[in-house]
Amino acid sequence: MSMRSPMIRINENYLKLQDSYLFANIAKRVKAYQNAHPKEDIIRMGIGDVTLPLPPACIRAFHQAVDEMAQDTTFRGYGPEQGYAFLREKIAEHDFQARGAQISADEIFVSDGAKCDTGNIQEIFATDIRVGIPDPVYPVYLDTNVMAGRTGEYQDGRYSGITYLDCTRENGYIPDLPDSPVALIYLCFPNNPTGATITKAQLKAWVDYAIDNQALILFDAAYEAFLRDDDLPHSIYEVTGAKEVAIEFRSFSKTAGFTGTRCAYTVVPKQCRAFTASGNPMPVHDLWNRRHTTKFNSVSYPVQRAAEAVYSPEGQNQIRTLTDYYLTNAAYIRQAIQKLGFECVGGKNSPYIWIDGRQDSWKFFDLLLNKAGVVCTPGAGFGRCGQGYIRISAFNSFENVEKAMDRIKAALQ
Ligand SMILES: Cc1ncc(COP(=O)(O)O)c(C=O)c1O
Repeated sequence: MSMRSPMIRINENYLKLQDSYLFANIAKRVKAYQNAHPKEDIIRMGIGDVTLPLPPACIRAFHQAVDEMAQDTTFRGYGPEQGYAFLREKIAEHDFQARGAQISADEIFVSDGAKCDTGNIQEIFATDIRVGIPDPVYPVYLDTNVMAGRTGEYQDGRYSGITYLDCTRENGYIPDLPDSPVALIYLCFPNNPTGATITKAQLKAWVDYAIDNQALILFDAAYEAFLRDDDLPHSIYEVTGAKEVAIEFRSFSKTAGFTGTRCAYTVVPKQCRAFTASGNPMPVHDLWNRRHTTKFNSVSYPVQRAAEAVYSPEGQNQIRTLTDYYLTNAAYIRQAIQKLGFECVGGKNSPYIWIDGRQDSWKFFDLLLNKAGVVCTPGAGFGRCGQGYIRISAFNSFENVEKAMDRIKAALQ
């Protein structure tokens, strides 16, 4: 009898993944430019990271909580995996109930990032479901489904087995409902990378689709804090019926400068359902609770106290000032780009501006780098529909934004 060695084998779905060449390629081109022009300063307008420090209210709460950790009487060890009640209650009250969305504290799961949550959530669904993913897209949604084995191979810029939801100028960068049924749908508004926003009526069409087709929506609202138009929905739960068919992701990263501090949350309403193979509805809340408590040990106490401070009156004023600063940058960029005769979307209710460069994305990237010393993000890196576009980010100082726009103007005229 031959004994085969119990060979360790890999998850071969990982071999289907495309190298994340976007940021590596940008870095390579920037380095080449720097070597050729060592005296030129480069302005980075491509980054999705914030530049302003944490609001003072968060810093004060953070310090106080660290001091508590230094005393026998106030020290805290493991906290509840879903997050402390003091934070979950504030979230439910301020972010949902205040807007008429009846979400309760026990439907909130605090985490260390919307990246992890939007990446991990797919684990609780079957691997043979059809997934609808926007194009262009924040790459996490797609790559985590590839890793899980929900796709075939990659060809001509797309994976087989995925239903791509095109976001183009023709549909105003809001995907049309799919022609063939999908079970899991990713939506992100205000959008990264396009900066587009969705109206309540447009969002309702997706909620109705999910209800009619026994589907489920994953709604990423990481940029919610940039919404200013009163009639735009801040949460998918402002739409009737959404609690049965949608999970929502939020983050303190862009809202309050927590990209390096790490705190976010996911809302899974108790009514939200998915189905067994035999068609029995199951509460998704229980599955996510099981997954979260098995694989996650919550966010550190001081970080949760810092996040709680976002909801204090000073915290609310401070995050408004913070997001207003980036929105002023965004409006300036949008106007400057439009004056140069380019069409763009975003830059209102969003920190991103998505510009139709009327040429290959990378060609336009090279032109801005070599003639203006400005780094943007080529749209083609976010999906096939991003070809011809670039993304400019408002996360920078106003001085840099002004300088970058002056240089772009000089380079293009
Ligand atoms: C659409 C979107 N979702 C989620 C995230 C990740 O947020 P977090 O810092 O909470 O992981 C980002 C970050 O850039 C994003 O653009």
